[in-house]
Amino acid sequence: DVTTVSTQKQQQMVNIAHRGASGHAPENTMVAFEKAFEMKADYIEIDVQMTKDGKLVIIHDTTVDRTTDGTGNVGDFTLNELQQLDAGSWFGKEFAGVKIPTFKEVLDAYRGKIGILIELKSPELYPGIEEKVAEVLKTYHMDKPSNNKIIIQSFNHESVQISKALLPNVPHGVLAGLSWADVTDEQLAEFATYADYFNPNMNIVSSNLVNRVHDKGMKIYPYTVRTQRQANNLFELKVDGIITDFPEYVNNHPGNK
Ligand code: G3P
Ligand code: CA
Repeated sequence: DVTTVSTQKQQQMVNIAHRGASGHAPENTMVAFEKAFEMKADYIEIDVQMTKDGKLVIIHDTTVDRTTDGTGNVGDFTLNELQQLDAGSWFGKEFAGVKIPTFKEVLDAYRGKIGILIELKSPELYPGIEEKVAEVLKTYHMDKPSNNKIIIQSFNHESVQISKALLPNVPHGVLAGLSWADVTDEQLAEFATYADYFNPNMNIVSSNLVNRVHDKGMKIYPYTVRTQRQANNLFELKVDGIITDFPEYVNNHPGNK
């Protein structure tokens, strides 16, 4: 029947801009988040860590060496010291002077405008970071069941459990690196007791894994797509979302139009 076909919903792949549109602008900065917003990504993914004076900041590595003009551990800098650093020049001269953003700065600019996939990065280095994140989200009234555009995830699954207990109405995700290639149904069932998402390295994704994650009632957002071919493969495997440095590879796919 022609009517049914023409009104059928096409596949809508959730498009998550990894550290912002980090293929186009310096990762985890306001410029990269703005680019992701302009490119109509569904979410920005951000890595949250904590400064020496207990402030939440957005940076991926546990040292500032790769993405700024400074050296040393993130946790050894005060917020004021961190914000003296240039977090843009390493990516291109035109980004000179771009700063490391705070968690609150990102929420102030983007809550309600684009989804935010919050990664607790190396939380074992920052005791109490789960409480800090929960406190901020509560202050911003972002801990409500109606809020479907915030997800908290970590490779540290104990941290995910702590966070879920603090924020029971916020969806949570378990990140899984290559060492989880042989994840069992029992392990997936255990994750599903506190997580809504199983987000693996894309190299361990198969249609069997996608089906098993779905059977447990979870969604699957693999990371990190950096080519159109990788995006195409994940579309074929029918994942629910794609974490990518290049949001255009997800938006431009024929299956998403
Ligand atoms: O969101 C998943 C992805 O960001 C995990 O890896 O190292 O880029 O934080 P990484
Ligand atoms: Ca991340």
